[in-house]
Amino acid sequence: MSSNGIKIKMNNSLLKDQQNKKVKISVNDLNLFYGEKQALYSISLDILENEVTALIGPSGCGKSTFLRTLNRMNDLIDGVKISGNITVDNEDIYKTTDVIKLRTKVGMVFQKANLFPMSIYDNVAYGPRMQGIKNKKELNEIVESSLRGAAIWDEVKDRLKTSALGLSGGQQQRICIARAIAMKPDIILMDEPTSALDPISTLKVEELIENMKKDYTIVIVTHNMQQAARVSDKTAFFLNGEVIEYDETSKIFSMPTDQRTEDYITGRFG
Ligand SMILES: Nc1ncnc2c1ncn2[C@@H]1O[C@H](COP(=O)(O)OP(=O)(O)OP(=O)(O)O)[C@@H](O)[C@H]1O
Ligand SMILES: [Mg+2]
Repeated sequence: MSSNGIKIKMNNSLLKDQQNKKVKISVNDLNLFYGEKQALYSISLDILENEVTALIGPSGCGKSTFLRTLNRMNDLIDGVKISGNITVDNEDIYKTTDVIKLRTKVGMVFQKANLFPMSIYDNVAYGPRMQGIKNKKELNEIVESSLRGAAIWDEVKDRLKTSALGLSGGQQQRICIARAIAMKPDIILMDEPTSALDPISTLKVEELIENMKKDYTIVIVTHNMQQAARVSDKTAFFLNGEVIEYDETSKIFSMPTDQRTEDYITGRFG
């Protein structure tokens, strides 16, 4: 298994040289257990700055678990044990005790919009206020730039003080993205952000992701193969807690190296 991990790592460092992009997140021999049950096996891969990296694979293969290790969200689950290491900007995040700071730097958007029952404005201003920002003008600026960044400003600018829960599902999901942006993260993790959306809202969010990568490093879990092919630069194929293949998205979808990857992307299982 570790030989597999090493191979993936080397392949990726080759890509890195070619593209001259910075490694934002480096994962090295990561294993994760829920109690006795192992959920991730010897994962090693590098995620490059200002790229979109897609995580694909059948249900239960560990995609969400892996995503949560990147901002230590698994710390909130009882009985989780982790070995190996993960660095963000060359800093070992499991040795850093400042988890709050880490989660500011590594934001997250979930499968279902999880807005608070308060106004659109207050939802977006929530995080910055928690960080101690009270100045009205400064908050106004953060709210506007975050909503613009999430491509929803024009749709909501005249109703900022109305309840966020009155928006459509697709609009709510973009408010969740605005809320993540308001924290000024470097990295945004997205766990199936469009699975509850109609095709038009899905395309809007995909366009948004495309535009966001100039400013952020994005890691997205998706069950939608077309979506992975459309939005991502790199794709990692997970199976039973292992990364089977990790490469350029165009390569994964045109010429996968592993038969299991091919079987999955052509819909033979999962
Ligand atoms: N809190 C938890 N406690 C114990 N086991 C868990 C927990 N969360 C996930 N698991 C187990 O870990 C494995 C990986 O789950 P995970 O949710 O990461 O899969 P996934 O790839 O995201 O699946 P899906 O596509 O269905 O969302 C599964 O066997 C799951 O049952
Ligand atoms: Mg999941």
